Amino acid sequence: MAQTRLHPADLVLPMFVKEGLADAVPLASMPGVLQHSLDSLVVAARDAVAAGVGGLMIYGVPEHRDEIGSGATDPDGILNVALRRLRDELGDSTVLMSDLCLDEFTSHGHCGVLDDRGRVDNDATLELYAQMALAQARAGAHVLGLSGMMDGQVAACRAALEETGFTDTIILAYAAKYASAAYGPFREAVDSALQGDRATYQQDPANFTESLREVSLDLAQDADIVMIKPALPYLDVLHAVAGEVDVPVAAYQVSGELAMIEAAGANGWIDRDRMMLETLTSIKRAGASIILTYYAVEVATILRAAI
Ligand code: PBG
Repeated sequence: MAQTRLHPADLVLPMFVKEGLADAVPLASMPGVLQHSLDSLVVAARDAVAAGVGGLMIYGVPEHRDEIGSGATDPDGILNVALRRLRDELGDSTVLMSDLCLDEFTSHGHCGVLDDRGRVDNDATLELYAQMALAQARAGAHVLGLSGMMDGQVAACRAALEETGFTDTIILAYAAKYASAAYGPFREAVDSALQGDRATYQQDPANFTESLREVSLDLAQDADIVMIKPALPYLDVLHAVAGEVDVPVAAYQVSGELAMIEAAGANGWIDRDRMMLETLTSIKRAGASIILTYYAVEVATILRAAI
């Protein structure tokens, strides 16, 4: 009688690849999640595809950072190298997605470049995002995950792609991305240098209507998929958006959502396995047709065993 059923292909696995690593390194605040070397990334990606997940979302962690995040647009930057390698190895056997944002590549850790007063310069950032879009499309990404929350980012990337003949590249817009405490562990995963917060460009957790507006702006700029992030604290927003738009709606069960389940589970305070499945089922029930989750492979494996 279940009205909602998870399917392995609903799930997208976020993965981290770090420049200069010889072997994968576990992340203390994200139990079960690794920072990969290029080689271990390929092995883990093959395993994820074999488990039947719907796609992979790749984040790069560079060895060196600078003010303008040069590693992001450089074809030899770690993320672009990893994408090229994965696309070579995996072809079209999975959907290859890439994070399109500067925060992993900037020395200050912000999602854009800064002006002379130290504030994020929205429009100067758009030019770099457009170059990143081309670098990632050239490297073989099927889907670009625009996670920087700059105004006009979808239009800037779309125009650059169209002009260059990348007419099939899909844009997944992190349309409503809240300035959340739940990204804490992710900052460890990408060795983030961020001081302060992202409250000037991410959404205020108190606001709902603003998110609907962010979604319609992204759709007006030709986003193919819109995402709500984090997932569990924002199921109301997810449900409203899913009821309103005619594109697939994604949700991101972020690092802090995983960390809460793992920490409470490790203490014996909740049943970790049940909570993992319950939260993901709830995210789908609320209207997500694509779910980014660090549990993707584990849950896909459980689901396949149950069929
Ligand atoms: C920014 C980005 C972040 C996450 C994904 N993309 C961090 C942020 O906005 O501070 C967080 C994902 C997670 O917490 O799992 N490139």
